Amino acid sequence: MARVVVVGTGIAGLIAAYRASAEHDVVLVTKADLGESNTKYAQGGIAAALFPDDSAEAHAADTVRAGDGLCDPATVDVLCTEGPGRVRDLIALGVEFDRINGELERGHEAAHSARRVIHAGGDATGLAIETALVAAVRTLALEVHEHTFMRDLVIDDSGPDRRVSGIEVVDTAGVVRVIDADIVILASGGAGQLYTHTTNPLVATGDGTAAALRAGVVLADLEFYQFHPTALAVAGTPLISEAVRGEGAVLLDEHGRRFMFDVHPDGELAPRDVVARGIANAMAAQGGRPVLLDATALGRDYLEQRFPGIDRSCAAHGFDWATTPIPVTPAAHYWMGGIRTDAHGRTSLRGLFAVGEVACTGVHGANRLASNSLLESLAFAWRATDVLTDAWPQFASTATTLGAAAAGDVPVDRAQVQRLMWDLVGIERSAAGLRAAAAQLEEWTVVGDSVSDLETRNLLDLARLTVTAALCREESRGAHWRTDFPESSALFAQSFDCVVPASLRVKEEATL
Ligand code: SIN
Repeated sequence: MARVVVVGTGIAGLIAAYRASAEHDVVLVTKADLGESNTKYAQGGIAAALFPDDSAEAHAADTVRAGDGLCDPATVDVLCTEGPGRVRDLIALGVEFDRINGELERGHEAAHSARRVIHAGGDATGLAIETALVAAVRTLALEVHEHTFMRDLVIDDSGPDRRVSGIEVVDTAGVVRVIDADIVILASGGAGQLYTHTTNPLVATGDGTAAALRAGVVLADLEFYQFHPTALAVAGTPLISEAVRGEGAVLLDEHGRRFMFDVHPDGELAPRDVVARGIANAMAAQGGRPVLLDATALGRDYLEQRFPGIDRSCAAHGFDWATTPIPVTPAAHYWMGGIRTDAHGRTSLRGLFAVGEVACTGVHGANRLASNSLLESLAFAWRATDVLTDAWPQFASTATTLGAAAAGDVPVDRAQVQRLMWDLVGIERSAAGLRAAAAQLEEWTVVGDSVSDLETRNLLDLARLTVTAALCREESRGAHWRTDFPESSALFAQSFDCVVPASLRVKEEATL
């Protein structure tokens, strides 16, 4: 029996904790309430080849096409072949997906060749999953620490093999302590808070990725950040699910012209990166003003029943989307990059697993297929718990060592980092903008040691490395669009691993 610390309580963390607790002592740590996570806000659903007229091969082909040449075929195969069984496991754990006449209701989303996205509560899939899994976990005898922030990984360098030996946490009173572990499973989610406009909740500050970065763990694909095409163009940019376009809503410019077919033969249902760029260009051509999503043809009854959460959100902002097109804009949504893992969630650091958005399994390549993220979290968290105490394999990686950016001495706040990332490291990038961003980020430092300061420090560390990764990839591919290199290049037709020497942490701490 091992002592397993799981960090994060979205679908990946809860599945990992639930499964690991069958054989191990589990400690579950979250910086917020048990149910808070990106998972909770997922609308569209979970994609899986569950139906007789669909196949794992077709799902894999769609995933690889969306990933624009960078998916790992082996992990995509795991996702698509094991996914359906895992969804049935999720149902057995109490998640009630929407049904019609007893059969699972099938939704459609962009770049899927079949209707294979199942959902719950109409557009409240994440909430249904989170509620069921929190209830399942609460029935178990595991140690739960809420409002406990992971500040860093603790590393044991004393033996022949460098390994993780716990996590350093801060509680709400500011008290720092170490939670010892034989195994740490990071399930701490993404970093949507890197950007001014995001669909992600406030907790998405990349804490796991940043801690791994500082511990010298291999990361990958940081330059690939996905912008969701359609967030409501109001403060807070609430998500308008891709499923709305999947069911027939169309995009119009401010003159009422349907523009996406000028960009891609699949129009509004082209891969997400293509639609996000199409919208960004249409907005640029109309002075930055949002484009319109016209869902009026779907009718009020259908919109209220199928998308009750979005319906409420539109109404709360004064829009009646049953009668009038609503203003939408792209917003930061999902990080394809993260901590490099193998097909069981193992990282380059012995004892450290990463599952969910914090991980880079290679499944998403340069652009994630819609509704594949819940499935990835579920499938790979499950697999991780099958090998927790197995012998640790040699980790295959040809990571480039990146220099740790020197910490500057100009105090910065989170909004400044987010604005810089949005302006210069967003949907479109160029060498000039990225170099300007790098120079600015180098000057900045985060002063203070509150949890909020530590989160901002994480965002700053990740912003620096993301800029470096984006500068290195001198091509356009998937979500990484370089205006100065608008074509894909065979030279870059692979995923790049990188590692930063542990010195970054020391430099940052010296500035506190
Ligand atoms: C959405 O509902 O559009 C989000 C689903 C996803 O990001 O996969």
